[in-house]
Amino acid sequence: MDIKKEDLKVLYSSEQIQKRVKELAQELNNFYKGEEVIAVCALKGAFMFASDLVRYLDMPIKIEFIRLSSYGSSTISSGKVNAVDIKLPDLNNKNVLIVEDIIDTGLTAKFLIDFMNMNFHVKSLKFCSFLDKKVTRKVNVDADYYGFEVDDKFVVGYGLDYDECYRNLPYIGHI
Ligand code: IMP
Ligand code: MG
Repeated sequence: MDIKKEDLKVLYSSEQIQKRVKELAQELNNFYKGEEVIAVCALKGAFMFASDLVRYLDMPIKIEFIRLSSYGSSTISSGKVNAVDIKLPDLNNKNVLIVEDIIDTGLTAKFLIDFMNMNFHVKSLKFCSFLDKKVTRKVNVDADYYGFEVDDKFVVGYGLDYDECYRNLPYIGHI
């Protein structure tokens, strides 16, 4: 499948995204009340969301990056999560905020939450996903915070890819 940029329908414009990201940051600012947060950005998809979100957060913040993959070059989840690179500092007693691009089957989110709970006694653990495809869940997991709910459509842009392309689009589109 080869998608042309012209064939993408805009689902959320850059302006809509920025407005929503600011609102989410405000919710997080209210929740953390100035306490230090370690944001854990799940690469590659969440790079753009995380970089926008942290600009609007007003607490002391440290940013870590981990890399997972579950899709390869398909639009259907492979059903297993690959921890490509998951080196993290000591997160014991820290407020950990996982920042993801999208929750689909929920396998990645569940993997990350279990990983944190198995390896650390965190002070708090919150999951913030830019998008939530609630209808395609295979495991029972929910985002504490999410930007927009999307239907069962494959979406690209704002960090999300199809076969590594379209991550740079400032909007969310679908085919
Ligand atoms: P899950 O483990 O099935 O919840 O999938 C999560 C990961 O799949 C996300 O971090 C994305 O990288 C990828 N993904 C799921 N749906 C889409 C989509 O519509 N477009 C692009 N990537 C997606
Ligand atoms: Mg991806």
